[in-house]
Amino acid sequence: RMPILEQCYNLMDFEAVARNVMKKTAWAYYSSGADDEITMRENHNAYHKIWFRPRVLVNVENIDTTTTMLGTKVDMPFYVTATALGKLGNPEGEVILTRGAKKHNVIQMIPTLASCSFDEICDAAEDGQCQWLQLYVNKDRDVTKRIVQHAEKRGCKGLFITVDAPQLGRREKDMRSKFSDVGSNVQDTSGDNVDRSQGAARAISSFIDPSLSWKDIPWFLSITKMPIILKGVQCVEDVIRAIETGVHGVVLSNHGGRQLDFARSGIEVLSEVMPVLRERDWQDRIEIYVDGGVRRATDIIKALCLGAKGVGIGRPFLYAMSAYGLPGVDRAMQLLKDEMEMNMRLIGAAKISDLNPTMIDTRGLSMH
Ligand code: FNR
Repeated sequence: RMPILEQCYNLMDFEAVARNVMKKTAWAYYSSGADDEITMRENHNAYHKIWFRPRVLVNVENIDTTTTMLGTKVDMPFYVTATALGKLGNPEGEVILTRGAKKHNVIQMIPTLASCSFDEICDAAEDGQCQWLQLYVNKDRDVTKRIVQHAEKRGCKGLFITVDAPQLGRREKDMRSKFSDVGSNVQDTSGDNVDRSQGAARAISSFIDPSLSWKDIPWFLSITKMPIILKGVQCVEDVIRAIETGVHGVVLSNHGGRQLDFARSGIEVLSEVMPVLRERDWQDRIEIYVDGGVRRATDIIKALCLGAKGVGIGRPFLYAMSAYGLPGVDRAMQLLKDEMEMNMRLIGAAKISDLNPTMIDTRGLSMH
C-alpha cells in the first residue's frame, strides 16, 4: 500500500512515505533533531517569513538554472549535503546519492561517517563528477592529514570542515530507539579505532576533537590545495573571522537542527551576514552556502536572492533513497528542477545571476 513513486509530488511527500516504510531506528536517526527540535522546525519555517517581489514582463522563455560552486559548473544551485549512515535507510548506502547527483549534475558531499567506505563512494562517481569531503576532525592530526590528502588525491574538489559539532547534540528520539543496529552500519573514514561498545551515537563521534579552534585552520590550508569551507558557521562575526583566516567558504548551518537547539536558521543568519559583507564590499571574498530545511525550489530561490551561492539538502534525499532507492532520488531532484524552472519564470529571473535582494521581502524575518 506504499504510494507509487509518481504519487510523490514534492520533497515532503518522500518524508511521509519514508516514515511509514523505514525501520524505526533508521527513521529515528534520520528524522531527529536536538532537544525539543525547535531549531529543526524553524529551519524550514523561517523560509515562510520571506515573500517574493516578482518582476513582470521579463523574457522568461528560456530558464537557465546552471551555476558554479567552488569553480565547478553544476546544473542546479543545490548540493547533496553530508549525512552519516546511509545504509540505515538503504542497503546500498551513499552510492545511490552519488548516482543521483551524477544524473542531475549536482555535487555530493561525502560524509566522514558514511556507511560505504570513502573509496567506494569515489569509485561510484563517474569521470569528472564533482565530490566534496565533509570532515570531522580527528584528535589524531596524522589521521586527519591522511584523510584530507587521500581525498585530494582521489579528486575531491572541496574540504568542508564541520565546526558545529564539538560534541554530538542530544537527539532524544534517536536515543529512545536505542540505535541498536548502527554499529554494524558504520564504516567510517575516521581511520581510528572507534569504540562501538558504548552505543552508536557516542561511538561514531568519540574521535571528534572538541579542542579544534581557529588556530588550527591555517594548518588545514597548508596541507591541501582543496578549497576549505567551514560548515556550521552561525553568525556574522564568525563569517568575518573566516574571511580573515583565509578560508574559501562557509556553510551557514545548524546541522539540520541536530546540534544546538535554539540556534537560528541558516536563512536567518544569511540575512544578518550579507548586508554586513556588502557594506565592506567583501561579498566576493568568500562563497556562502546555506543548509537546513530547504524543501522547495522557492526556498532555494530565496537563499540565492539573499546572496547564497547555493544550498545544501540533507534529509529529503535520505528519505527518497530509503523509500524508493535511486529512482526516488532521481525523482526528488527532477521535482526540484521543475520547481526551479517554474518559479524562476514566475519571479522574472531567466538565469541564476538575475536573482537579487530586490526580489524578496525579508521584513518578516525576526531580525528585521
Ligand atoms: C546530518 N548532518 C551531518 N553533517 C555533518 O557535517 N556530518 C555528518 O555526519 C552529518 N550527518 C547527518 C546525518 C543525518 C541523518 C542528518 C539529517 C544530517 C547535517 C547535514 O549535513 C545538514 O547540515 C542538514 O541535514 C541540513 O538540513 P536538512 O536538509 O536535513 O533539513
